Amino acid sequence: MTSKLLQDAREYEKKGINSADKKDRPLFHATGAIGWINDPNGFSRYKDSYHLFYQYHPYSNHWGPMHWGHSVTKDFVKWEFLPCAMAPDEEYDKDGCFSGSAIELEDGRQLLMYTSVIRKEDSDGEIRDYQQQCIAIGDGVDFEKHQANPVISTEMIPEENDIHDFRDPKIIKNGDKYYCFAINRHPDGSGQILVYESMDAVKWSFAKVLDRSNNQVGRIWECPDYFDLDGKRVLIVSPQEVTGDGANVFPGFNNFFLVGHGKEFLDFNRESVQPIDLGTDFYAAQTLQAEDGRRIMIGWMQNWETCNYANDLHDYYGMMTIPRELKIDCGYVLQQPVKELENYYLKDFSHKNALVNKKTSLSNINGRVFDMTISISPEQEKDYEFTVALAKNADYETRITYNRRNNQIRLDRTKSGIMFSSLSLREFYVDDNQGEIKLRIVMDKYSMELFVNDGRQAASMKIDTPLVASEITFSSSQPVKMDVEYHSFDESKFKN
Ligand code: FRU
Repeated sequence: MTSKLLQDAREYEKKGINSADKKDRPLFHATGAIGWINDPNGFSRYKDSYHLFYQYHPYSNHWGPMHWGHSVTKDFVKWEFLPCAMAPDEEYDKDGCFSGSAIELEDGRQLLMYTSVIRKEDSDGEIRDYQQQCIAIGDGVDFEKHQANPVISTEMIPEENDIHDFRDPKIIKNGDKYYCFAINRHPDGSGQILVYESMDAVKWSFAKVLDRSNNQVGRIWECPDYFDLDGKRVLIVSPQEVTGDGANVFPGFNNFFLVGHGKEFLDFNRESVQPIDLGTDFYAAQTLQAEDGRRIMIGWMQNWETCNYANDLHDYYGMMTIPRELKIDCGYVLQQPVKELENYYLKDFSHKNALVNKKTSLSNINGRVFDMTISISPEQEKDYEFTVALAKNADYETRITYNRRNNQIRLDRTKSGIMFSSLSLREFYVDDNQGEIKLRIVMDKYSMELFVNDGRQAASMKIDTPLVASEITFSSSQPVKMDVEYHSFDESKFKN
């Protein structure tokens, strides 16, 4: 039965779906139909499509009582909206349906696993969240919350651990069992992953603590994922209150691949911690396994540090990254945009050995939606500082700068229409590259994602620059030669 709250949300979001003016929507990045979104939820294959749910507040461009929005895609590039999947319409989830995951059941139904939130006053007079794990089962569009909810209650948190931070269940089937990975706080105050197991996804029991921060990998961890990749085992976590290391581990909100190995499904021996994305906007990544075996990751292109500055420039706020293919190379996770992106290219332009010195522009290289790779070979002047300026006109520009001497990249959105200065600059070191630098930039109107050296590093950044600013220029402190491969996109292929 569809509750009043869910009906209202489904009715309200039609405003966004039907709005004639979609010029300000990204072409191939998922957004909500209208209003606010955060974390990707339930990113999974169901029947012959890939489903994406998300934390959703349709009624404003700001976080509010959490619903689950819903979109679907066949190829990770072209998205379609489905009706809002869940509203906080039960007594046990009245303060929000928080993040979670989805899976196809043996009988062909789709199961959503999420965190129900209720806010209660404790005996000390403080109001605190109580978070428990719940399920809803449906046909890919309509979902019924289960009568056994919450299926993993606060009482099932092993004693002495925190009873308030307990959320973001990732459900995975292995053999004939279901497993649920949820975040919690160890008595030392920092994050840990609790694993529960079940034969039917309804009755659960505690299995083990998979891994924990020990106050070394940030404080609380959010949004776990767990999978095997090219002979390694990867645990994804989104930690808060990370202590920066002055190089590529940034303080505050972060997102890490914990790379390790293990024999049994629940053995996880961590070997390394790798930041997933070095840009200003990335958090809460989730993955799925595509039909052809590829491991595909999607993230929220934002984080909690900047989202207080959400604005009303459009009728939606927040978007996902482009889905990225993951691979392991010598214990290191590489990421690249899904290969399906190429099916939407319109025109290809290339420039070989183009000389860059003073400000240079190149014929046909401009626009706000493109996929462009700039390569600069190592036999060049050692001290150059190279800048590509995007989304540019007399008033605006978004800069990516590579400093050869320091081997550092700087992202700069101080002239990108954003009205706050926190997190406007990001600098990171390029992994050992022997002077070779390849910058793949995927821009989709109000966002850009950078993939350095074939996906060895990634950095995402949102901008608010008006779409009229669409020039691209190149400059360098010393003359360098670069190759540029540029692809524009065929907008007509995105029309339904
Ligand atoms: C992560 C997160 C989750 C929570 C959700 C609430 O961004 O804080 O832990 O479930 O957002 O919207």
